[in-house]
Amino acid sequence: MFHSPILPRVRKRSRAAEVCVPGREEVKFEDVRLYLVERKMGLSRRSFLTQLARSKGFIVEDVLSDVVTHVVSENSHTSSLWAWLKDHGLKNLPNMHVLDISWFTDSMREGRPVAVETRHLIQETSTEASTPPPKATVSQYSCQRRTTIENNNKTFTDAFEVLAESYELNEIEGPCLAFRRAASVLKSLPSAVQSLGATQDLPCLGEHSKAVMKEILQYGHSFEVEKTLSDERYQTLKLFTSVFGVGPKTADKWYRRGLRSFSDVLTDSSIQLNRMQQSGFLHYGDISRAVSKAEARALRSIIDEAVHEITPDAVLALTGGFRRGKEFGHDVDFIVTTPQGGKEETLIPGIINRLTKQGILLFSDYQASTFDMTKLPCHRFEAMDHFAKCFLILRLEGSQVEGGLHAAEGDSRGWRAVRVDLVSPPMDRYAFALLGWTGSRQFERDLRRFARMERNMLLDNHALYDKSKKEFLAATTEKDIFAHLGLEYIEPWQRNA
Ligand code: CTP
Ligand code: MN
Ligand code: MN
Repeated sequence: MFHSPILPRVRKRSRAAEVCVPGREEVKFEDVRLYLVERKMGLSRRSFLTQLARSKGFIVEDVLSDVVTHVVSENSHTSSLWAWLKDHGLKNLPNMHVLDISWFTDSMREGRPVAVETRHLIQETSTEASTPPPKATVSQYSCQRRTTIENNNKTFTDAFEVLAESYELNEIEGPCLAFRRAASVLKSLPSAVQSLGATQDLPCLGEHSKAVMKEILQYGHSFEVEKTLSDERYQTLKLFTSVFGVGPKTADKWYRRGLRSFSDVLTDSSIQLNRMQQSGFLHYGDISRAVSKAEARALRSIIDEAVHEITPDAVLALTGGFRRGKEFGHDVDFIVTTPQGGKEETLIPGIINRLTKQGILLFSDYQASTFDMTKLPCHRFEAMDHFAKCFLILRLEGSQVEGGLHAAEGDSRGWRAVRVDLVSPPMDRYAFALLGWTGSRQFERDLRRFARMERNMLLDNHALYDKSKKEFLAATTEKDIFAHLGLEYIEPWQRNA
């Protein structure tokens, strides 16, 4: 009998409500559940209206929840009312009638819930000047943004990258980083920037970046970028550093000696090329050509076979740009390890051995591990990691690539040279190495900067160290690391910052 549908539900009433309880009310309108918003209305008026409605057979809920069908408010600022409603985390809010007191008084007069008309509705609006709708803010850290390979602002980011590169080649760090960060922010946007006004609330866009964007928006290109691209020093340094094994220092040395072309370099008898540079020139055409996804897959099979011959429980993972979903890369990056502690150090030498026997090893530069857990944490920002690694050039047969080689037109050799990177951390460092080698470079920089600036932690390819607690934080997956940092997990394909 207590659950009879015609009886009102037993509910706790506030003291004010109890004052005017006239006895048991009969529910007449089961499908309508009112909620009266107390803000502006006031407690005593709300109690009075509640009692009035209940006496007429209406159900009035004391608490705003998803069972409510009609929300009634008096004298409320529309946007603040809606903001307040949304704060309640209601799932059913889109189906609720949010009504002006006029609907309530009409219903009381009629003694039944009147049909909801437009004039009763308090419609959600964002035009009230007093409380503008909250804007989605873009984080200054790329590890708090999701950046896929789809770049809607390529005209701007290409321009920024030219300028960043130019500053980098001249070893001017500040503006280089500023342009890299600006490019990275634009890459994360869901659509193209159409006007300077649209950049107003974006982080990392300084005066210089905006001036470049303004030129591009006005004239279709930036004069500063054009000037840089036609600069002889920029062009020469770009050309020289495009050779495997030639860094900015060597390129600058050659430039200052008056060398301007590859033939200048190769015919200068005073220049001693190292082994890496010799291979770089020898295979220049091939390795300056992008590697396709299909080629990366073919290389994966080759490495996979080699590493499993050494140890059946070896773990091989594709990392770098291809793990981020890129269609093309300048190389293919792999991590290899094994659960047998210490054995990981034998993996790369074993792979090299096998590739040599197969006759497909064109070049290798092996660096044995210098990893020492007792020397961590490393305070040097962006230092190279200490794991065993190898930079390779392999001969890839077209017959092994699904759909054939990504070769130049008219190339009938049936094979090409490809750059491959291998790294082999111990298994308990695997998650850190995978996160560090997946990139992008900008994403890694921002992860480390975020850890340091926002969490007082040190992150690198080896470990995560909490400086406040003075302890290392363990991780077996990348998700563990994001969780330690208090960051939402960002999938590899969202790290193309
Ligand atoms: N990396 C590293 N230590 C190295 C070399 C590379 O930690 N000695 C990291 C880089 O920071 C980068 C990732 O490995 O995040 C991949 O480097 P790289 O192959 O140069 O770049 P990709 O992002 O793979 O781009 P691409 O497709 O051009 O190869
Ligand atoms: Mn790569
Ligand atoms: Mn690489």
